[in-house]
Amino acid sequence: VSFSFGSNLRVTIFGQSHSEAIGAVIDGLPAGEKLDFGRIEAFMRRRAPGQSSVSTARKEPDKPRVLSGLVDGVTCGSPVCVIIENTDVRSADYEAMKRVPRPAHADFPAFVKYGGFNDVRGGGHFSARLTAPLCFAGAAALQLLEKRGVNVAARVKSVAGIEDCPIDFVNPDFAALKAAALSDIPVISEEKRQAIRAAISLAKQKGDSVGGVVECFAAGLPAGLGEPIFDGIENRLAAAVFGIPAVRGIEFGAGFAAAEMRGSEHNDAFYMGGPDARTVMTATNNHGGVLGGLTSGMPLVFRAAFKPTASIAQAQRSVDLISETDAELQIHGRHDPCVVPRAAPCVEAVTALVLLDFLLVGK
Ligand SMILES: Cc1cc2nc3c(=O)[nH]c(=O)nc-3n(C[C@H](O)[C@H](O)[C@H](O)COP(=O)(O)O)c2cc1C
Repeated sequence: VSFSFGSNLRVTIFGQSHSEAIGAVIDGLPAGEKLDFGRIEAFMRRRAPGQSSVSTARKEPDKPRVLSGLVDGVTCGSPVCVIIENTDVRSADYEAMKRVPRPAHADFPAFVKYGGFNDVRGGGHFSARLTAPLCFAGAAALQLLEKRGVNVAARVKSVAGIEDCPIDFVNPDFAALKAAALSDIPVISEEKRQAIRAAISLAKQKGDSVGGVVECFAAGLPAGLGEPIFDGIENRLAAAVFGIPAVRGIEFGAGFAAAEMRGSEHNDAFYMGGPDARTVMTATNNHGGVLGGLTSGMPLVFRAAFKPTASIAQAQRSVDLISETDAELQIHGRHDPCVVPRAAPCVEAVTALVLLDFLLVGK
């Protein structure tokens, strides 16, 4: 089964888009950690639908209710179980999808895998609704990381080819990233925010959708964290990031561009730096903070590519799985014309969970 990830800190998410509730079980949080609920809810609002003109019209209060694992807001060592009720469901929108699968969505392979018993309402358990409890877990992990001196932040790097300003990989500006996170489109440049908002609105007007890239940074990690070969920082992050729906790819540091570079250009020179000039640092950060699956002590930098939303308002070619004939599909539900702005906190959440998992070794 694949609803869980992590080893020292294990997170399981459950529920479907239109089930009574969705939720998470977070096992392995050390006891005695006070969680700030105001901040958890503020983090979850960054992902919640209905926050802006460029997201789905579905409105969910996303109020988390903790069933276990906390005493007076402090972790007690027992798994934290949280549920979030689904309130704004319109299951009738999905009647057609029981037999006519949406191109680029999970409807068809899910129909085959589950023999037609899968919950198609709102995309069932493939829905991005499940990233709400993931964001609860991630928000808690972010608080624990902060206490351990680790900062994590993600922003929208581009949407529909419109790029936000570059960020220094050696000294990422976390203040700017955190300020960007407060906006409905978490980019640093206001000009680019407006251009992106216009591009998403135009796509929506045309009954279409657009994709983009989320870039994530983490600083304050010690060097040497992680495992080699199959269990490295990149391996585990990639597995968790692909748990966010609509992710198509991930690249670390210079990423795919490294393939076009010379060693002399790509290699990050080491030097003795830090306050006491005894910390091994690199002058550039093309390696994105990971070498051999282990952290180098430099900021972790990676990007995740998100595809354009599958559910678009234009008529599309599909098939009728029951009559086994070609069919036309017209989608009537409420959908995000671009998932990227809401995906940024999801990337931040899974990154925090994976990094905390590594940091909790032997705890
Ligand atoms: C925050 C967020 C919101 C999403 N909203 C929608 C949506 O409104 N409509 C849709 O078709 N897909 C949406 N998706 C993507 C689908 O859930 C996803 O494409 C689908 O489950 C198939 O999985 P795959 O794209 O990873 O292969 C969203 C994804 C994220 C991260």
